[in-house]
Amino acid sequence: MADSTARIVPLRAAGTAFVVELTEPVPRVLHWGADLGPLSADDLAALSLTAEPAVLNNSLDSPRRFTVWPTEADGWAGTPAHHGHLDGGAAAPRLTTTGTSVRQDAEGGELAVSLTDAAAGLDITITYRLEPSGVLAVHSEITRQPDADPAPYDLAQVTALLPLPRRAGEILDFTGKWSRERSPQRRPLAHGTYARDVRRGKPGLDSPYLVAVGVPGFGFREGEVWGVHVAWSGDQRYLVEQLPEGAGVHAAVLGGGELLRAGEVRLAPGDTHRTPVCHYAWSGAGLDGLADRFHTLLRDRPGHPRRPRPVILNSWEAVYFDHDPERLLRLADRAAEVGVERFVLDDGWFRGRRSDRAGLGDWTVDREVWPDGLAPLADHVRSLGMEFGLWVEPEMVNLDSDLARRHPEWVLAPACGAGPAARQQHVLDLSHPGVVDHLLGALDALVTEYGVAYLKWDHNREVHEAVSGPADRPAARAQVEALYGLLDTLRQRHPSLEIESCASGGGRVDLGILARTDRVWASDCNDPVERQSIQRWTGQLLPPELVGAHVGPDPSHTTARVSSDTFRLATALFGHPGIEQDITRCTDEEVARLTAWTALYRELRPLLHGGRTVRADLPGDATLLHGVVAHDGTAALYCWARVATSPEGQPGRVPLPGLDPARRYRVRVRTDVGLPSFHHRSGPAWLTEAIDDRLTLPGALLTAAGLPMPQLNPEQALLIELRQAD
Ligand code: GLA
Repeated sequence: MADSTARIVPLRAAGTAFVVELTEPVPRVLHWGADLGPLSADDLAALSLTAEPAVLNNSLDSPRRFTVWPTEADGWAGTPAHHGHLDGGAAAPRLTTTGTSVRQDAEGGELAVSLTDAAAGLDITITYRLEPSGVLAVHSEITRQPDADPAPYDLAQVTALLPLPRRAGEILDFTGKWSRERSPQRRPLAHGTYARDVRRGKPGLDSPYLVAVGVPGFGFREGEVWGVHVAWSGDQRYLVEQLPEGAGVHAAVLGGGELLRAGEVRLAPGDTHRTPVCHYAWSGAGLDGLADRFHTLLRDRPGHPRRPRPVILNSWEAVYFDHDPERLLRLADRAAEVGVERFVLDDGWFRGRRSDRAGLGDWTVDREVWPDGLAPLADHVRSLGMEFGLWVEPEMVNLDSDLARRHPEWVLAPACGAGPAARQQHVLDLSHPGVVDHLLGALDALVTEYGVAYLKWDHNREVHEAVSGPADRPAARAQVEALYGLLDTLRQRHPSLEIESCASGGGRVDLGILARTDRVWASDCNDPVERQSIQRWTGQLLPPELVGAHVGPDPSHTTARVSSDTFRLATALFGHPGIEQDITRCTDEEVARLTAWTALYRELRPLLHGGRTVRADLPGDATLLHGVVAHDGTAALYCWARVATSPEGQPGRVPLPGLDPARRYRVRVRTDVGLPSFHHRSGPAWLTEAIDDRLTLPGALLTAAGLPMPQLNPEQALLIELRQAD
């Protein structure tokens, strides 16, 4: 049996477990996945014994081990946990353990392992924290010993790696573009490295977002799946790697980390590099199980937004750059009338900003457009009972701005000159002395002067050639660290200020930025067909209260698609809702519907923003069923949406996911924002009863047999509410 001196540390929470054996010279990972139950000493010894794989032909002479810090010293030929060099030397790290600290709680706990590499004078600590949600947060710190060789250690890359079993054979990750973020893509896992490198200075519109590997065919409700998210707002790397010899007794690895630029992290004696946190999660209940762990993790945070999420009106698709104070006052009046709670003035309010060609950097009000400043609008908004919000893009500058004219050296660019503009703009060098202070001063003044309750913080271009002059020092990570510092200080000064992370839509959606902001703008696309998909997949990581979802104009400004307002309203309900259209031009009927919608949202807000997200596995992509179910199973709201036609004449019985089979439910179709248009002569019998709110059905029927769903015309949605029957 196992070495009797070995210690084995199991961390367990919410049906998942992570087990490490404190072997020498480096501890090894015995297990990450389903909980193995309370483990006796014999069970632990058995786990250790069965972690010892065969010795292969033409291979290492001892059984392979997958350690907490895999390197070539273990015979590991995959991506190492770190690599680098000391002035051209010390390039083969040979680690030994110098200490461990363990905290095991009823729900989770923490294991920290300290390692040292004598040749490079590096002390490394890797910390695993198993949260009560079952999410395993992994980060490490790499410190040069104070008395080490004075030459800086050039750290090339640090990657968190956790093992996957052989049955995890299919990868799901995400890609996208402007107005079409978080498009899922699947592929079989094969031998080799599947890597997603991000070099855009932010996660990007094509962010891998969350890389999941599961038993092939895993769905929303079923299948075993392992996933990772890198909580970092800059360059990053995800990988899934499988070697023929496996990874110790395991088959493959799932990795993540910040992508470091050459020469960016050079550790002098005493310096420390801290990696971003990689959040790993396992689910035995498909992607919904994985989402549930992340949503629980986020909702458990002390900084998670607790106030009811206010209905927003955003001025962008209503007026764009056409800032006429009278028109905006009227827009605010109408917003208040329909039940808006926060009015956000988007781009176009600051000096010289008559288009996207000029003005970025000059964060004072344009007196030509706003002769009396923004105070009259902000005060008016507040007098109508709404909060006032403002758009900013602090990290950016137009060359046609007073700031760029005064401080050309503040532009982030190589000494030989700035590269091509994107959206007519460049990036400010946040690592340049004075830049962050300047931005802090400007933002602080705006928030104070106008009583700004909410900043929509944008970041509209990618960061290329992130080097800081005159020596062209790599500065990609310095940008992100400075941004985090700026946000943190601003929030300390204004504790009730809320901030939205926007980057041309959903280009900066990650748990690093969300540690210091209150929601994300999921996409510039307000077209409900696109939004059904964007929100469904953004929800894989984020609960709906963190995901901005607006009702846009018709036709959609980003796709020119015409859609019914019922569908637009039903779609925007499943997020943090808002309105983004010129509602002064709405008909009386449209105004009534918007008013009913904000009332419906307020009524259902506790359920929508507190419940569990569920998504049904249906054949094909033409129809979607998703919803939110109260944790105690007493209430639910579902959206039955049809985004395209399909050959089936009728959908048949569809089980409603997440309900409690032991309860009885009142089933009610919510008609507050109208009914969808149907593709039948008469609907299934239950529908009329549910529209009239006189239907009660057993939970077991709803969850096991399902409801025969009505056939909708394309681009339509039906809202079905369930409440426990008395
Ligand atoms: C970006 C944002 C939009 C809007 C514009 C303003 O594209 O994603 O929502 O704020 O900038 O210029």
